[in-house]
Amino acid sequence: MIERSVIDNIVETANSNIVDIISDYVSLKKRGANYIGCCPFHNEKTGSFTVSPAKGIYKCFGCGKAGNALNFVIDHDHLTFVEAIKVLGKRVGIEVKERELTPEMKEAQTKRESLSAVMEYAQQKFVSNLWDTDEGQSVGMTYFRHRGFTDFTIKEFGLGYSMQQRDALTVAALNAGYKKEYLTETGLSIFGENNYQADRFWGRVMFPIHSISGKIIAFGGRVMQTSAKTAKYLNSPEYELYHKSDVVYGIYQAKNEIIRQDRCYLVEGYTDVISMHQSGITNVIASCGTSLTQNQIKLIQRFTNNMTVLYDGDYAGIKASLRGIDMILKEGMNVKVLLLPDGEDPDSFALKHTAEDFVAYINTHQTDFIQFKASILLKDAENEPLKKSAAVNSIVDSISVVQDLILREYYVKECAKLMDIREDVIYSVLTNKVVADAQRAANDKFNQNARQNLAVQQANARATLANTTGQQPESANGVQSGLEQAANTIALQQQMEAADYFNPYMREEREVLRYFLKYMHYALTVDGKDSTVGAYVKESLDEDQYKSVDPVFNRIMAFYEQKPDATINNYTNSSDSEMVTRVIDLISDEFSLSKMHRRFGKVEPEESKIGDLVPKTVAQLRFKFVKEKINELSQAIESCSDSAKQEELLEEYANWHAVKKNLSESLDNRIF
Ligand code: CTP
Ligand code: MN
Repeated sequence: MIERSVIDNIVETANSNIVDIISDYVSLKKRGANYIGCCPFHNEKTGSFTVSPAKGIYKCFGCGKAGNALNFVIDHDHLTFVEAIKVLGKRVGIEVKERELTPEMKEAQTKRESLSAVMEYAQQKFVSNLWDTDEGQSVGMTYFRHRGFTDFTIKEFGLGYSMQQRDALTVAALNAGYKKEYLTETGLSIFGENNYQADRFWGRVMFPIHSISGKIIAFGGRVMQTSAKTAKYLNSPEYELYHKSDVVYGIYQAKNEIIRQDRCYLVEGYTDVISMHQSGITNVIASCGTSLTQNQIKLIQRFTNNMTVLYDGDYAGIKASLRGIDMILKEGMNVKVLLLPDGEDPDSFALKHTAEDFVAYINTHQTDFIQFKASILLKDAENEPLKKSAAVNSIVDSISVVQDLILREYYVKECAKLMDIREDVIYSVLTNKVVADAQRAANDKFNQNARQNLAVQQANARATLANTTGQQPESANGVQSGLEQAANTIALQQQMEAADYFNPYMREEREVLRYFLKYMHYALTVDGKDSTVGAYVKESLDEDQYKSVDPVFNRIMAFYEQKPDATINNYTNSSDSEMVTRVIDLISDEFSLSKMHRRFGKVEPEESKIGDLVPKTVAQLRFKFVKEKINELSQAIESCSDSAKQEELLEEYANWHAVKKNLSESLDNRIF
């Protein structure tokens, strides 16, 4: 547990040093009041990633990612909240003291923390077995030396050793107070009848598997002598902290270099990663012998979009693995392939060559995946028309997932040359395939729910269009410019896609929130009553007891209720990252779009019109809400058979009807 006040202090200090903090990851240049750099969350050549030191926030105008210093480290390094607080605390020099655990608190510790603690304990044990026991030295260390691993490497990857004694770890862990329950769940121990207890791993060298933030979440244990009887590697089972399909071996040690080089090397095994690392090539990760899952690819893509897959020279399973690479292509990565010389795997090659030689070898021998695939399939298909046709189809499958049209055309040309087939033939196969795929995707997508969303979006778009073009051609009432509108529509769509509920008031709520956040403390007089924008919005919504289905909307309103004097910086500096992102999204046209338009003198400053705009926008939301209430009530009245109940409903109906009448009058007065 970290004290709330410490958390707040860290987040505040980090936000006020946001430029320093983000500079650890992104090279930033000062431009005016802000700093600009290339966005670390998507691929770009010109910077649209903007950091505002005054506000303590960042926003990328390319991909839309936004947040404060806390969100940044969470998203960039895939950290949990607590991990991020610790990282930032270290960075800004505020000590994070976790409260000493009393036995009762140990009891109350969350399960994840307990599981993690058991794994950390096991790791310490395996490491001290290796370094500090005779058996560890004579068996484990001898093995590692044999494989050419240095002390430095062994420490960097946290390699260890599990003792021959069948229950060494279990006994030690129980004595140290760790619970059976967690030892069982992590798979470290096995308990059975008649006090049977045993370790999962014994007499093996141990390879810990780290999470992206460096926590030990699983182990691979290798036997010393491989034989047909025992599996070479024994791995931790899946449990709450370890989902095999979400984890990439080596990513913790490799991530910085992957970012720096904007490329990663994918190999098969633990020892390939470690040996390459030791030779000086550190942007290496392993798939652990299976093809990558979508989640694993997504994880890698946070760091780079470029991958080279390294194959053993005599790798028998290349053909089977081609499908796995199609999957990587499909996620939009640029994939190259390297075949090592016969008889070599990355491990052996790294032990025999310097890093420079290895990299030079990769650079001269890596080929585009599509060419690689064509050459492999072609070897099989020579002079066999049926096989050749299958090969062409299979290559076109791969080409069709490439999104870059220029690259696609290039592949078609290459493929035509390699396979000795006319380009137009390949094009027509490709076109048929693309059309068929698109049709299938469209069918999948347009399920009931998606159709409904689409209809709403279209209706909204039509309404907005009518608003701008039809009724108010001069944009006299502060109608948004086309550009702003487009940006808003995109943001709205993203929000709709992200939400797992359907919010019928999303568009209206967005408008209200935007004014609310931008002009919160501005004075506002409505119908002769003096107020502020914030108070007016809050009170108006409270009048209808309005609650959104969108939890973030409600949290923003609750924040205001608790701290009505808070500035917008208090919102963007909060540790509620969903709220932070929403707030920045809504206020950020201030730091780009509307400014641009003001410069061209197209639009009068919005501030001068909030007296009209705010009540109008609030009324629009309330009007829609009240209309819906009335609809619901009239249906309820119709289907109600109890006359007393009906009486009640009628009264309620009359009340809402009065509200609606009031609203529509005030809306008429404000002509829209
Ligand atoms: N693997 C596994 N279980 C096995 C065999 C392999 O989990 N029984 C995984 C391991 O992650 C291993 C990877 O698949 O690292 C690649 O397998 P392999 O090439 O056989 O292992 P190496 O890492 O080359 O191991 P070594 O060099 O020690 O033989
Ligand atoms: Mn090997």
